[in-house]
Amino acid sequence: MEPVKIGIIGTGNISDWYLRGAQRSRLIEVKAIADIRPEAAQAKAEAFGTRAVTVDELLKDPEIEIVMNLTLPMVHAEVSHQIIDAGKHVYVEKPITAHFSEAAPVLKAAKAKGLRIGGAPDTFLGAAHQAARGLVDAGTIGRPVGGAVTFMTRSSAHRYANPTFFIFKKGGGPMLDMGAYYLTQLINIMGPIKRVTAVSTNGIPRREVIQGPLTGEVIDVEVPTFHNGAIEFASGANVAISFSWEVHRHRRSHTEIYGTEGSLSMTDPNFFGGTPQVTNAGGDWQDVDISAYAFGTPNRVMDDGRSEADYRMIGVVDMAMAIRQNRPHRANGDMCMHVLEALEGFERSSLEGRHITIETPCERPAAVPKGKDEEIFLD
Ligand SMILES: NC(=O)c1ccc[n+]([C@@H]2O[C@H](COP(=O)([O-])OP(=O)(O)OC[C@H]3O[C@@H](n4cnc5c(N)ncnc54)[C@H](O)[C@@H]3O)[C@@H](O)[C@H]2O)c1
Repeated sequence: MEPVKIGIIGTGNISDWYLRGAQRSRLIEVKAIADIRPEAAQAKAEAFGTRAVTVDELLKDPEIEIVMNLTLPMVHAEVSHQIIDAGKHVYVEKPITAHFSEAAPVLKAAKAKGLRIGGAPDTFLGAAHQAARGLVDAGTIGRPVGGAVTFMTRSSAHRYANPTFFIFKKGGGPMLDMGAYYLTQLINIMGPIKRVTAVSTNGIPRREVIQGPLTGEVIDVEVPTFHNGAIEFASGANVAISFSWEVHRHRRSHTEIYGTEGSLSMTDPNFFGGTPQVTNAGGDWQDVDISAYAFGTPNRVMDDGRSEADYRMIGVVDMAMAIRQNRPHRANGDMCMHVLEALEGFERSSLEGRHITIETPCERPAAVPKGKDEEIFLD
């Protein structure tokens, strides 16, 4: 089969991980990349053996079927509309749009042209999350009735060239920056969200930037940076959430799911691998064997020396194959919009003093079949 041709708009930090993913794939090929900073696209093109072109040239290339939008959240909607106007399918980094109100028009425009929207995160397609889902689907922990997710740190400013927007300014904060990983991980296990509630506060209103070119600057924090709340799923399960940029250390794990017959402790949803653990009733924790599933072998050494499995691009491979096979793709726009509605819902809930019902539809994505590599998407 000829690889499906992909274009990328936005060649900043995260594009490296997608370009690496593309290099591993036989099913897709990145034909061209573009950025409003042509020198950035040129440097990545040289490093990864692809072509740098202008955004206009990329959108006019008749061979390119899917265009990835890896720009900044505030222009996600605008760039996705450009891609749709050019008649191409979109795969967009998270959040699908900076504001929930911008998401439905993007999905509507794509639908009107018979085009698909896909979006990050695709980490839930990884071995650890699929193996955990397999256990739940097999009834190992009984019926999930509750859970808890925790993302609490002193901030992840180091991940961005300019941390202030993602971290401390309107449109950023721990929920919008990191929440999509956790909520998508939960939807993969438990299906759609019914309503959310939270208390959201800003405990440290002026913060010093600790890394990057703005180091030492003191900035005003415009968003809540500590959310405690809960999600009620349509299934009836009830999951506690804590998201914060204000915590130096804690002893809570990423994601736990409590079932009628046992408990499941899941791995970091920012990555694809790790070792989930499961208990039966009151028994000890047991490691879950994830080796039957693809995309779990560590392939990225992090700054702190630990190894993680990072297979970003698998969601695009699944979408490309889904287009060929005329089936739904897993990391899809409806789920991205549902997740964004919930993420904004936590802050709204706190401001308005009430639960927020999530209105947008979302279906639990299909499980990923067992197997060793991307060939599983050919089934
Ligand atoms: N950095 C990370 O670790 C990380 C991880 C996961 C997801 N993300 C997400 O990926 C996206 C990009 O993040 P990043 O860290 O790569 O940011 P970045 O600032 O490093 O890169 C963004 C790139 O988009 C380009 N750009 C901006 N507007 C454009 C436009 N209108 N047309 C063409 N190019 C444009 C910029 O010139 C820049 O090169 C964000 O949505 C972010 O939430 C980032």
